[in-house]
Amino acid sequence: MNIALVFGGCSSEHEISCMSAKTIFEALDPAKYQVTLIFITKEGQWKKVDQVRDYTPEECKDFPTAVVIPSHEADNCLILAEPVVRTHIDVAIPVLHGLGGEDGTIQGLFELAGIPYVGCGVLASAVAMDKITAKKVVHPLGIRQAQYVDVYRHELAAMDQVISRVEEKLSYPVFVKPSNAGSSVGVTRVDRREQLADALQLAAQHDSRILVEETIIGHEVECAVLGNLDVGATRVGEILAADSFYTFDAKYNNPESQTVIADYLPEETIQEIRKDAVRIFKALDGSGLARVDFFVEEKTGAVVFNEINTFPGFTSISMYPTLWIHEGYTIESLVDRLISLAVERKQA
Ligand SMILES: Nc1ncnc2c1ncn2[C@@H]1O[C@H](COP(=O)(O)OP(=O)(O)O)[C@@H](O)[C@H]1O
Ligand SMILES: [Mg+2]
Repeated sequence: MNIALVFGGCSSEHEISCMSAKTIFEALDPAKYQVTLIFITKEGQWKKVDQVRDYTPEECKDFPTAVVIPSHEADNCLILAEPVVRTHIDVAIPVLHGLGGEDGTIQGLFELAGIPYVGCGVLASAVAMDKITAKKVVHPLGIRQAQYVDVYRHELAAMDQVISRVEEKLSYPVFVKPSNAGSSVGVTRVDRREQLADALQLAAQHDSRILVEETIIGHEVECAVLGNLDVGATRVGEILAADSFYTFDAKYNNPESQTVIADYLPEETIQEIRKDAVRIFKALDGSGLARVDFFVEEKTGAVVFNEINTFPGFTSISMYPTLWIHEGYTIESLVDRLISLAVERKQA
């Protein structure tokens, strides 16, 4: 099978994508898969490279440019320009986190080109990426979520009004986050009014829509789902962040942050999380994979939905593969399964 492994990308999670892609690449059995590596630079150039790693723009110069032709007539083709080489692609794996990769845009390109791809389609990717829209789609399921106020960037010109609107509905501490972003980029915990304006301005640098949420105190837990029509869910993992919350630094730079299998939570709570994860995935029309994140509130024990990630971190120590390994998968068998699901989805 010809696989196009696409990694890097323009989002703030470029480096994480390179690490996730390395894990997936190493799990692809060379006896089964012929792999074409497509690196997307931070500036958005597509390059056919020969190794899975991060490249500087200078290093990229001599690699051929890669082009996907958005036409079914091109026979699932990826063209590697200068000189033009056509490569037939059976399945693309967009190992991209965040904007331009996890948000439905690259999925749309593969749809137009007729190339099957791993993971969620355009709709589920776009809805999951946008936290405000995801909240609205999840709302009718009756699953608890943090109370929130949504704010448009242009409204920040009248900052006092925005602050009043937030304070009418929520009390401090609150979480301020861009509606579209990831890896905690642009996310701030705000303990008092004086910090709110700066937090809103920071979030506004990443998206034109901002979410201000009530703070949920409790366990931060995650559940991995896998499948198309028949969707399976894992046990639940907990994040033990080495910081006041799970910041970018706590996620990727602080070795004291840990993830554990949270079998110590009440079994009823674990089953509720698993059921909710699948319901949320289905409500978004998910396919392939996703990691669905929740809190278990300390005071009440209630399960509170936080967000859903359609291409979760896939490094060897990331929660998504760890949870499936706990279920008896290996990274190799997990990647095989994701590729089969991509083919099955296209056929369906
Ligand atoms: N409402 C909230 N209450 C408590 N902590 C929160 C809340 N929202 C976000 N956080 C913390 O901030 C982190 C990043 O927020 P999250 O919504 O997961 O965005 P991202 O897409 O950047 O991962 C979470 O992992 C959690 O530690
Ligand atoms: Mg998160």
